[in-house]
Amino acid sequence: MKVAPLAPAFGLRFEGVDVRSMSDSERREIIRAGNSAGVVHIPGQSLSEEEQLEFTRLYGRIRVLRVNRARNSRRLPGIVEISNVDADGNVVPPGSDMIRFSKGNMMWHSDYSYTADWAAQSILHALEAVSKGGETEWASTEAAYDALPEVEQARLSRLTATHDRFHSRIKNGFTDFTEEDYRLTPPVPHPLVTTHPVTGRKALLLGSHVSAIDGMSETETEALVAELTAHCCQPQFVYSHVWMPGDIIVWDNRSTLHRGRPADPTERRVMRRTAVFGEGVEGPEVQVVG
Ligand code: OGA
Ligand code: MN
Repeated sequence: MKVAPLAPAFGLRFEGVDVRSMSDSERREIIRAGNSAGVVHIPGQSLSEEEQLEFTRLYGRIRVLRVNRARNSRRLPGIVEISNVDADGNVVPPGSDMIRFSKGNMMWHSDYSYTADWAAQSILHALEAVSKGGETEWASTEAAYDALPEVEQARLSRLTATHDRFHSRIKNGFTDFTEEDYRLTPPVPHPLVTTHPVTGRKALLLGSHVSAIDGMSETETEALVAELTAHCCQPQFVYSHVWMPGDIIVWDNRSTLHRGRPADPTERRVMRRTAVFGEGVEGPEVQVVG
């Protein structure tokens, strides 16, 4: 197994390994990287759904968001479909739910930040990739935090943000929420500056789900989120990934933000995502699998 940096500020790439048959030391290194490097790229894999779930369990307990079950019902529980291809294998039409969900993913976010125990690692496995565009970008919110002046770090450390699933969904034209949806994912508070439970490093927790920052008006909240997001997403803090079939990317939602980039919607882009629980309190919206 060979390891190399992914981007100047963060990230690692592991080559020459099959994640289905790792030695103990390879497994330890891959787990450590997933908890400290922000983004880990492992090319050349070919995992079944069950094998992806097994790989995901290296990082913790698998999470399932109950509210997404209907959309992902053709996959094993715990697998989220990130694709533009329907169950019959056809590319879906422009206005469909799958396309609207992928539009939501194009805003900078941290997966499941609208839950108390927002995801620690997420894992994407690419099955089919587009020939142009469709990259995923990650920004290191640790490197971005470190680069702030100390007074700004101190000011931000005193702030709490509300993360609301409906705030981001509404921006993407979703309105058909049920009572059950609201009951399962009520808005949750998170500190704006978080401390990584494994490395102890500080990071900014932002993203499209932030609906309010305490003590601020809506306009002030939006302005601060926009300013801090722009700071985090400067080129020196960003890694942009061009997908190849067989790629696995493990990322840490506690130290990065990410977003998808547009692609020709008639080209097939098929990926599977899994995620594990974070360190927070388990809420009613989630279910443990295996
Ligand atoms: C995700 C996500 C972005 C993309 O799967 O969590 O945000 O590029 N994906 O598909
Ligand atoms: Mn995401």
